[in-house]
Amino acid sequence: QPVRLSDYRPPDWLVDTVHLDVRLHPTATRILARLALRPNPEGREGSPIVLDGDELSLKSLTLDGTPLAGNAYVATASALTVLAPPQRALTLEIETVVDPSANTKLMGLYRSSGAYCTQCEAEGFRRITYFPDRPDVLAVYTVRIEAEREEAPVLLANGNPVESGPVEGTSRHYAVWHDPWPKPSYLFALVGGRLERIVEEFVTASGRKVELGIYVEPGKAGRAGYAMDALRRSLRWDEEAFGREYDLDVFNIVAVADFNMGAMENKGLNVFNDKYVLASPETATDADYANIEAIIAHEYFHNWTGNRITCRDWFQLCLKEGLTVFRDQEFSSDQRSRAVKRIADVRLLKSHQFPEDAGPLAHPVRPDTYREINNFYTATVYEKGAEVVRMLKTLLGEDGFRSGMDLYFERHDGDAATVEDFLACFAAAAGTDLSQFALWYAQSGTPQLTVSGHWDASARSFRLDVEQTLAPTPGQDEKRPMVIPLALGLVGPDGRDMPLLLDDGTNAGRGVLTITQPRQSFVFRDVEHRPVPSLNRGFSAPVKLVSGLTTEDLVFLARHDADPFNRFDAGQSIALAHLVEATAAHRAGHPLPAPDALVAALGATLGDASLDPAFVAQALSLPSESDVAREIGGDVDPDAIHAARLALRRALGEALAPALEEAYARHALAGPYSPDAASAGRRALRNAGLDLLAATGSAEGVARALAHFERADNMTDRFHALSVLAHNAPLAREAALSAFYERFRDDPLVVDKWLALQAQIAEPGTLERVRALAAHPTFSWGNPNRVRSLIGSFASINQTQFHRADGAGHDFVAEAVLELDGRNPQVAARLLAAFKSWRALEPVRRSSAERALRRVAAREGLSPDVADIVSRSLD
Ligand code: ARG
Ligand code: ZN
Repeated sequence: QPVRLSDYRPPDWLVDTVHLDVRLHPTATRILARLALRPNPEGREGSPIVLDGDELSLKSLTLDGTPLAGNAYVATASALTVLAPPQRALTLEIETVVDPSANTKLMGLYRSSGAYCTQCEAEGFRRITYFPDRPDVLAVYTVRIEAEREEAPVLLANGNPVESGPVEGTSRHYAVWHDPWPKPSYLFALVGGRLERIVEEFVTASGRKVELGIYVEPGKAGRAGYAMDALRRSLRWDEEAFGREYDLDVFNIVAVADFNMGAMENKGLNVFNDKYVLASPETATDADYANIEAIIAHEYFHNWTGNRITCRDWFQLCLKEGLTVFRDQEFSSDQRSRAVKRIADVRLLKSHQFPEDAGPLAHPVRPDTYREINNFYTATVYEKGAEVVRMLKTLLGEDGFRSGMDLYFERHDGDAATVEDFLACFAAAAGTDLSQFALWYAQSGTPQLTVSGHWDASARSFRLDVEQTLAPTPGQDEKRPMVIPLALGLVGPDGRDMPLLLDDGTNAGRGVLTITQPRQSFVFRDVEHRPVPSLNRGFSAPVKLVSGLTTEDLVFLARHDADPFNRFDAGQSIALAHLVEATAAHRAGHPLPAPDALVAALGATLGDASLDPAFVAQALSLPSESDVAREIGGDVDPDAIHAARLALRRALGEALAPALEEAYARHALAGPYSPDAASAGRRALRNAGLDLLAATGSAEGVARALAHFERADNMTDRFHALSVLAHNAPLAREAALSAFYERFRDDPLVVDKWLALQAQIAEPGTLERVRALAAHPTFSWGNPNRVRSLIGSFASINQTQFHRADGAGHDFVAEAVLELDGRNPQVAARLLAAFKSWRALEPVRRSSAERALRRVAAREGLSPDVADIVSRSLD
C-alpha cells in the first residue's frame, strides 16, 4: 500500500471553514467539529465524503443539523465515509472523544508535563477529528477551547484571540481563536496548561503591531530571553532579506518537554521541543544557543515558506523544508560568521546526508513513493533540499534568485504548491530552462565529480577535465547527468587568485563553471604559472569531489585559499586521506605516523592571528569516525578507524602542544558569559585545544581539563571539559561525571547532555553503562529527548560500541527499538535508522547487524514506521 506521487488526485471535497469546540479533559477530551464542505469542481463528481481518522471513535454525526441514518455513513477508527451525500455545499458536525493522557505517540492531542498540546504534521490532525487530512485542503479555522481554569489557565490556538471568559456557574473557562489565513490541517495547533510567559511587542516594517509571546513551564521564563531575541531578529531579517512581513496580531511559541522532533511551525502558534527554547549560561552551551537561534528562525520563516505557501502533497515536503532550511542557514550566516556557518552546515550534510544517500534508505529530495511519511523528515529532504536551493542561487546569481523568490511569493501565496511550481518561477524570472536542474529533486545518491587539471607552460593555458558520475541507488539503476555549479578559483604561486579567462572568450561568470555533461573540459588562457585549482568553493554543489590534488597542493590551499571553506576543507582532506590509509595500516598491524604536512598546515593555521578563532577551531577538529567510515565505503572496521583517529589526535596534541597552549591562554575570556559568535569562537578554540592536549594522555593535559572543568562558570566550558575528561581520562572521569550529575540532576536538558556523553565513550564498558543508565531513575522511555540522548547517541555516534564485534551493541539497539515501538513508533523508527550504513561494515559486524534487523523485522505487529525502515534497510 505505498503512496505514489504519480497517483496524486485533487480532493473530491473541499472544506471552506472549520469550527472546533474542544472541551479539554485529561482522559476524555470532547471535540465537536463543524465543517463547511463543498464538492471540488476539480474532483470526481458524485463522490462520497471520505474523512481520515486514526484511532478515533465517532460519538455523533449530523449533516446540515440532521443526524445521519446508520446506513448513510461508515465510521471506523481510520475513516469516516458519508456514502451518498448531496452534491452541494453542506455542513457536517462530527463529535469525537480522545484520551490525551494515553497518547504516547505524541501525535495529535497529548499531554506534556500536564499541559495539553498538539502535533499535527504530518498526519496527526486525524487523531483529533475526522478530516480530509491532506495539505491541499485549506480552510479557515475558528477554535473554541474550554478547560478547568485551575488545570489550564492558558488556552491558545492558531491565529488571533477573539474572546475569552468564564463558563458561568462552573470552574471552567474558555477562549476563542480565529485564524483568518486558510491553512491545511497539519498546521492546526492548540495548547492548554499552566504556563508562564514572556511577551514583547514588535512593529513590522509596515507598522503592524505584533505581540510576541513565549510560553514555558512555570519557573523557566528566565531561560526564554534568548529565544525571544532570536525571534525578534528573525522577523526583522525576513523583512529585509526576502521582503516578508508577519501577518497576524500575535505570534506565540510554546515550549514543551515531550516532543518528537525539534519544533513545529503551526500558524501563529509554534510548538517547540523545549531544548530549542530554554537557555541560560549555566545550562546551555554555545551550540545550544546557535541551535535555538536557527530553529526559532526556521519555524518563523515557515510562516511564508510552508504556511502562506504550503505543499500540495507530502511528496513536496522539500518545497517547504529544503527552502526553509536554506533560509535559516542564510539568517544564521548573516547573524554570525558566514564562513564558519557554511563549514558547520557542510559538516552536518556530509555526516548525516551523505551516508543516507549511500545506503539502503537513499531517496530523492522529492521522493516518489512512501509507506510512512514520517520517515521522510530526513537529512536528504531537509539538508540536501537546502543545498539544491543554494545551487539555484549560485546558478542564477543574487538578483536572479531574488526575483524568482519574489515571483514565487506573488504567484503562489495561498496555494498548495509543487516543486514544479517553484522551479517555474525561477525559470520565468531568469529566463532559463531548469528541466535538467530538476533532476536534483528526482535522482538520489551523491554525484561524484572527478576533476583533473593540466597546465601547458608553452601555451600558457590550463585545462580542467571534469567527469561526473552517479552510482545506482535503490530503485534507480540508470542515472542522467546533473547540472552542477562548480565554483572555483585558480590560485597562483603567490597565493592570489588568477583571472578566470576561458579560451572561448567568455569569462567563467562569477567564478562558477556549470557542468551539464558526463564529461567536459574547460580551457583557461593567460595562465602564466602552474595554478592550484581550488574546486567546489563554498561547497557550491553537494558532490563528492575527487580532485587529484597532491598533499603539497592541499597544504598550499590550507594556507592561501581565498575561499575560507576550501581553506578549511584542504586541511580536512589531508586528514581524511591519512585516516583512511592509517586505518588500513592499523588493520595490517603497522600503525602510520601522523603526516608532517598536516601538522605543518594546522600549525600554520593556529599561528595565523588574522583568522577567526571559530574557524581555527573547525580546522582543528578532525573528520569524525563516521566520516572516515563513509570515505572507506566498504569492509569498515570501526575499531581500526577509532585507533587511527586517536593516534592522529595524540600526535597532533604532542606536535602542536606549544601553539595549542598559547592559543588556550590567549583566548581566555574575562567577564560574564555572552553567547555571541565571537566569544563562542574563542571558547571553541580553547576547547579544541583542551581536547588535543588531553588526547596525548599527558598528566598536564588531564590536569588542565580538570581545572577547566572546576573553574568553568558556564555550561559550554563545563561540558566541554567534562567531555574531554570522559573521553581521554578514565581515571578522572567518574568523579567529574558524578559531580556534574549532582549539580544538574533536576534539570532534564542538562541531564540529557550527561546521558549522551556517557553513551559516546568508545570503550567496551559503555554498553553496560548505557544499560544501567536506561534503568536510572532519571531516564524515561516516554520522553523522546531522554531516548535520543542515551540510546540515539549510542547508536548514531558511538561507532565502536554500537558496532561491537560481538553484536551486543546491535542487539541492544534492536531491543530498544522494539521496546519503544509500542509506545512511540516515530522515535523508534528514527532510532532504527542508525543501522543505515550496515552494509558497509566488515563481514562479522555486517552479519550481526543483519541478524538484529531481521529480529526486528520478524516481530509481529510492528508499527508502519518501524516496518518501513526495517524493510527498506534489508531490501
Ligand atoms: N515541520 C517541522 C519542521 O521542520 C517538522 C515536523 C515534523 N514532525 C513530524 N512528526 N514528522 O520545522
Ligand atoms: Zn521545517
